[in-house]
Amino acid sequence: MNTTTGTTGPATALGPQLRRRKSINSMVREAESNAGRGTLRRSFGVFQLTMISVGATLGTGILVILGETVPVAGPAIWISFVIAGITALLSAVSYAEMAGMVPVSGSSYSYSYATMGEGIAWVCGWCLVLEYAVSVAAVAVGAGEYVNETLRVFGMGLPDALAGGPSEGGVVNLPALIVVVLATLLLARGARESAIANTIIVAIKTGILIFFSIVAFTAFDAGHFEPLLPMGAAGVTAAASSVFFSYIGFDAASTAGEEAKNPKRDLPRAILLSMLIVTSAYVLVAVSAIGAREWNWFDGTEAALVQILAELTGQKWVVLLFAASAVLAIGSVVLTVLYGQTRILLTMSRDGLVPPVFAKVSPRTGTPLAGTFITGGLIAITAAFIPLGALADATSIGTLFAFGLVGVSVIYLRRKQPLAERTFKVPFYPVTPILGVAACAFLMSQLSWHTWTVFGLWMLVGAAIYLGYGRRRSRLGQLSKQEYIDSHLGEK
Ligand code: ALA
Repeated sequence: MNTTTGTTGPATALGPQLRRRKSINSMVREAESNAGRGTLRRSFGVFQLTMISVGATLGTGILVILGETVPVAGPAIWISFVIAGITALLSAVSYAEMAGMVPVSGSSYSYSYATMGEGIAWVCGWCLVLEYAVSVAAVAVGAGEYVNETLRVFGMGLPDALAGGPSEGGVVNLPALIVVVLATLLLARGARESAIANTIIVAIKTGILIFFSIVAFTAFDAGHFEPLLPMGAAGVTAAASSVFFSYIGFDAASTAGEEAKNPKRDLPRAILLSMLIVTSAYVLVAVSAIGAREWNWFDGTEAALVQILAELTGQKWVVLLFAASAVLAIGSVVLTVLYGQTRILLTMSRDGLVPPVFAKVSPRTGTPLAGTFITGGLIAITAAFIPLGALADATSIGTLFAFGLVGVSVIYLRRKQPLAERTFKVPFYPVTPILGVAACAFLMSQLSWHTWTVFGLWMLVGAAIYLGYGRRRSRLGQLSKQEYIDSHLGEK
């Protein structure tokens, strides 16, 4: 394949360029040998990959979401977790099939490029910026609350000026800034070091959730589950839409395709294993929490798990331990999601759709060093100063859109390349991916018009960037017709 990165503009008209697809073979070849620009190091096995996905998923959601969702669903909140988990699982199996087929670092962006062409791939990549970069800034902001909670145990607290950005009546959200800067520095050191730190934190965060469940089960009262549906079935499904946020992140392993030792085998396993671990943890926490407190107790509580622990144990140190672990838990979401964003940008940069600096891999660390600092720096500034409320709401739409595209990619490739090697196959095809796409569309339709407006504006900005930059620099767009046809030879 031609690897020139000319800047004189595309060789094709806009319509055909938007439809140009990248061949899977050329993606894999580029990932394996990246023409002297340094390559990522393959060091992850299935365990580390699973930990990356669990690290990116298990975090703020479960720590804060019960206060908002139990009053909506009642004691059946655990069913909401199961419904949201099934919706996520329907997409997760599609991710698993695609990750085994296209084991590169671009996640759903790469899958869309191989199936629906450059236009949709750009839309998907731009949605992934919402899912990764914007959401991680929002998640980091939450760290401030837990840091303050920890400090208050010692009778201290951050001054208001340092505890939140201008939109929250402060000047800078210092804890959020520190969490993102630390995660950036760790990522810059190396992917292996980051994976080790992440694995330790995942062990701590699953440990505190199990600890919570054990303590909560000591006060278990089966009567709290009656009546199961005080708010009706509608309450359970409405809560499921909110709970879905807690599952975002399982796809993070699919951004590690070029750092996995055996990606075709291990990526599908890691994605599915992480879903199993996360769903079990959520159902366990939800059941034990409802067992310990009546459902209407949760109304208005901000940190329900901490409060239940404090009331049941009466120990200050337990609260301290939990709040400190919560900060770490948020830290590992930031670390792994930031990791994913740098790898997606690396892939998009290699394709010419974002500046080349994001694809430069340092031979010393084996990581995209400059891209990591730029991405981490921008996210740190955003988390520290910029009000994110509106954009954060749009992350769910962006995520659901990207998930839906993965289901479509599975269907497309099953029809167009039925003989291509697949290390994992979606069970009950085509029902599963169709249901997955429908579930994503349904959850998107439940979001407010305000969120849709913000999403629409975000996509307009993305379209302007593509037309002003990506379209002219796209490597695929610069291939002649014959070169383009040649790059697809051998597809089965
Ligand atoms: N699932 C991630 C969390 O709950 C976004 O923090």
